[in-house]
Amino acid sequence: MNVRELIIQAIYLASSVLFILGLKSLSRADKARLGMQQAALGMVLAIVGTLFNHEIIRFDLIAVALILGTVIGYPLGMFVPMTAMPQRIAISHMFGALAATLVGIAEYHGHTGPVPRSTMAALGFEVLFGALTVTGSFMAFGKLQEFITGKPVTYRGQNTVNISLFGLAVLMFVWLVARPESSVVFFAMIGLALLLGVFMVLPIGGADMPVVVSLLNSYAGLASAATGFAIQNNVLIICGALDGASGLLLSVLMSKAMNRSFGNVLFGAFGSAAPALAAGPGAKDLTVRSVTAEDAAIQMAYAGQVIVVPGYGMAVAQAQHVVRELADLLEKKGVTVKYAIHPVAGRMPGHMNVLLAEANVPYDRLYDMEEINSEFERTDVALVIGANDVVNPAARSDPQSPIYGMPILDVDKSKGVIVLKRSMNPGFAGIENHLFYGPNTSMLFGDAKSSLTRLVTEVKAL
Ligand code: TAP
Repeated sequence: MNVRELIIQAIYLASSVLFILGLKSLSRADKARLGMQQAALGMVLAIVGTLFNHEIIRFDLIAVALILGTVIGYPLGMFVPMTAMPQRIAISHMFGALAATLVGIAEYHGHTGPVPRSTMAALGFEVLFGALTVTGSFMAFGKLQEFITGKPVTYRGQNTVNISLFGLAVLMFVWLVARPESSVVFFAMIGLALLLGVFMVLPIGGADMPVVVSLLNSYAGLASAATGFAIQNNVLIICGALDGASGLLLSVLMSKAMNRSFGNVLFGAFGSAAPALAAGPGAKDLTVRSVTAEDAAIQMAYAGQVIVVPGYGMAVAQAQHVVRELADLLEKKGVTVKYAIHPVAGRMPGHMNVLLAEANVPYDRLYDMEEINSEFERTDVALVIGANDVVNPAARSDPQSPIYGMPILDVDKSKGVIVLKRSMNPGFAGIENHLFYGPNTSMLFGDAKSSLTRLVTEVKAL
């Protein structure tokens, strides 16, 4: 190994260590920012290491690519709002997978002499999963951004068609490993993989997209690792494998937290019907109690303990800063304020943690579901801010409900529940929530941010 190669490998090693440290830090909310910085530094090192490569013949093209990447990446990072983060991540995966696929095509096309079978196996895997991820991620992006219908698009025999197409793509892959010179099969396989990406995401509902995006993240990682094998690049192998494994784990964990099997998310067409509106007594037979901001403020200001339960609506309203303001005021009045975080509240993992961290809510006030559920019985007020499915008691009591078995926050066990939302509309799962009709529940209707602002004014006036 010459000196240049030694320098490259040393830089790649440092870069890989930083990626691993970054992932480790990301598992703790108070270290997450550091984790992102470590990973970003790892990426800078990976780029620097690659620039030492003696095979580079045109630095001007690399400079153009870097400028182009910055022009696209900077606004994506700086200006996309938190509520649009899932689709931003989807489009980033699309770019990553596109890069892996293009490298695979360039390697195949530009290979001097016949492509060895081992290289072909890596290249075939790379373009197959890369191409599938490009269109799959674009579909996920479209569904989340709502320029493609968020409803599952299904037809009879769809799973059979998709599995058969995937089987055909795998056959082409096997053929290519046996006969790497078959360039027609190579490009036909890419075409089929692109089509598969569309077909596989079509039957999945928009709201399940975060799980799909995470799975596609895993595919993009595997494609990158295969690229690493094909072009013998260690940092690509390591970070691709990290990406592949963490993406897969995250998808499984997200499915588990929704009490859905992984297969059900991918093949179940969840959300194609609004099934549970009919389950249980009809809404018209039940009474909804609405409350004024003044009464809600009195109830909270004289409480011993208030548990704040944020949900997707808090993200939509961008109400996290006013939540913090209200909590501060209540604490000054001697009220204990805690935050209950459901693992799938919002639309992406850690959604609530990130928003509350942005408003500088101390980490030690945030409690996971398992930690806080036993406390609701002793709590005077559970303040539900734009959460719905994650507090729906049907998950415990109604076996017909599509969310039956999903662990929920037991807010209905509190002495009083105040719910901030705009209407009686359902949440993500499209189902009725009997919590809103409970004898101890009061609804404060309106946009969460403006309702909280009114509560702040009222608490100040007490
Ligand atoms: P949801 O059940 O989606 O309910 C959100 C509620 O917020 C809605 O009922 C809506 O009612 C209200 N809302 C919307 N905008 C509002 C605003 N500006 N002000 C006040 N309220 C507003 O949310 P959740 O309880 O957080 O549950 C999350 C759901 O997403 C779960 O079903 C979960 O399985 C699913 N999911 C989560 C993830 C991850 S990883 N977090 C991934 C995929 C799916 P109004 O329209 O009446 O205001």
